[in-house]
Amino acid sequence: MTLTGTQAVGATLTRIEGREKVTGTARYAFENAQDRDTAYTVPVQAAIARGSVVAVDTDAALTLPGVIAVIWYGNAPRLGPSDDPELALFQSNTVAYRGQIVAAVVAETIETAREAAGQVRIEYAQERHDVVLRVDDPKMYKPSKVAPNYPTDTELGDPDSALREAAVSVDLTYTTPAQHNNPMEPHATVAVWENDGLTLYDSNQGSSAVRDVLARLFGLPPDRVRVIAPHVGGGFGSKLAPHPPVVLAAVAAKVSGRAVKVAMTRQQMFSLVGYRTPIIQRVRLGAGGDGGLTAVIHDAFEQTSTVREFAEQTTTPTRVMYAAPNRRTTHRLTALDVPTPTFMRAPGECPGMFALESAMDELAIACGMDPIELRIRNEPATDPESGLPFSSRNLVACLREGARRFGWADRDPAPGVRRDGRRLVGTGVAASTYPTIRRPSEATARAEIDGRFTVGVAAADIGTGARTVLTQIAADALRAPLEKVRVEVGDSRLPTAPIAGGSMGTASWGTAVVRACEALLEEIDRRNGTRPIEVRVNTADEIAAQPRLSRHAFGAQFAEAEVDMDTGEVRVSRLLGVFGVGRVINPKTARSQFIGGMTMGIGMALMEESVMDVEFGDYLNHDFAQYHIAACADVPAVEAYWIEEEDTRINPMGSKGIGEIGIVGTAAAIANAVHHATGIRVRDLPIRIDRLL
Ligand code: MOS
Repeated sequence: MTLTGTQAVGATLTRIEGREKVTGTARYAFENAQDRDTAYTVPVQAAIARGSVVAVDTDAALTLPGVIAVIWYGNAPRLGPSDDPELALFQSNTVAYRGQIVAAVVAETIETAREAAGQVRIEYAQERHDVVLRVDDPKMYKPSKVAPNYPTDTELGDPDSALREAAVSVDLTYTTPAQHNNPMEPHATVAVWENDGLTLYDSNQGSSAVRDVLARLFGLPPDRVRVIAPHVGGGFGSKLAPHPPVVLAAVAAKVSGRAVKVAMTRQQMFSLVGYRTPIIQRVRLGAGGDGGLTAVIHDAFEQTSTVREFAEQTTTPTRVMYAAPNRRTTHRLTALDVPTPTFMRAPGECPGMFALESAMDELAIACGMDPIELRIRNEPATDPESGLPFSSRNLVACLREGARRFGWADRDPAPGVRRDGRRLVGTGVAASTYPTIRRPSEATARAEIDGRFTVGVAAADIGTGARTVLTQIAADALRAPLEKVRVEVGDSRLPTAPIAGGSMGTASWGTAVVRACEALLEEIDRRNGTRPIEVRVNTADEIAAQPRLSRHAFGAQFAEAEVDMDTGEVRVSRLLGVFGVGRVINPKTARSQFIGGMTMGIGMALMEESVMDVEFGDYLNHDFAQYHIAACADVPAVEAYWIEEEDTRINPMGSKGIGEIGIVGTAAAIANAVHHATGIRVRDLPIRIDRLL
């Protein structure tokens, strides 16, 4: 163990760059290269969902004053390979989904580029499209893996027989709609070609990853691509890997010889940067009369595009949640004429747990048991599928602590009987889980001659406070006061680091920061310091050698819902979460992560829904006027708490990831509360008015 007993880890600190952000001096991607002779690019998006581009007439666009170039398949530079065929921009005339980039204008101003983009005439050969997810699709198939790297199916024992023989059973189908990632800062990139290399100021969740992808595409050694992103206004998974607009910026800069800016409009984001797949889930649970689960079967049906296979890990949380000797989880996928889905906050865990935790509520009612007691009754001693010991697991403590704080003990289980004026009132609970992951990272630590320290790691601070918690971690590892430590992040020139995703950023980068600081202290002991001393570490070996354990965070959400009996309007009047997440490094930024996740869960439960226009083959609600997220008036006092949890085997900080678990159980807790309020079980999200009346 390397905890030093100094004060930084665990301290409630305001974000180091908070002042820059609130005073507007923190520079985001689009605001860079102000001193350059910048041009702007705007994409032309396909108006059909399937077919090909036959001809492109650029004459009208090119006659507009200020237009520099119109780029399309017929004149674009050829690109190198990529693991993601979505990035093969202008490499073929095939149209795989409506909204795909088929051409782009480069112009002196963004207004000119937008006007000219509207004047590019495209002739298509249109084919019939198929954009509707359904479980009886003959094209449905078993994906090669589910993201990021899980087996698609698992099975233990004989779940079908156990289900048939169960004293109590439920067989339920839940659906969740497509949802679109909507970070506050739209995707933006400024691309500059200079000195035989490419520089990108880019809004992303990992500059090392963007560098590597772009280097391959343009046939450059990685060190000739530099990706700079000191401040990022959120991503929710849509900035984990580069999407076509990043490539567009680089291509447009190459073609025009200018520094080129691209910024997605909110509307363009709905086609071009990913989304959460719609999912149909079937959950079957069998239990004995005492509520002990004998069978758990969870099947997920999802969509991908014809461009690339992306399968969300929807049923993976069911593999760790509850003890049952007979169990099966599966994922099936259909390739439709739609954009490729991607990660969206707690991909898999969040929709999957909406289904499982709704089904647990329904099973509790079928068994005549309290839903908390049902969960505690099925608490496993070890990971129910792998058999591995948990590094730590405090679901029961979270449920009990949440019940105490929420006032669960007085709850009358009868649905539809509590009134407050015109409103029916109910409460619900759901459990949460999220994997505790760590990936290899590099980091440097340098002792300056003035007694200060500089730590470098190509981490991404997407608004979470990563820079702040890494500074806390470094200060303790160096046994130095916070003011003497500076942590540099957000630049691919810094030591290579994994993405800010999978709730693994702090654990991955933090491990490397601790090891670099430890190595630096040893080095300082050996030398006397008249020159700066720098050390560099890579944690690949340490992580490869870590013990085999089942590593997960757990939590529980409690919701109170009020349903207007006349209008069907649902208000979440109270939301409370308790989490077991190891050591909390900064209570202030941690609380923000939890309440942010739960707030997004309110949106998932009540509002967020991308609606497919079957005729045109595209999601039709393309902006905040029609795609609703939870706004201030929708969000009550959200309470977030955590229990004391010591887990020394996960990483030197003893911390688990917290970026995603807040959303995981929230939608189920709200749906369970709505059922308790009204007696109406809504199995299809969002819980719209028409689903209650
Ligand atoms: Mo998160 S969906 O891993 O950014």
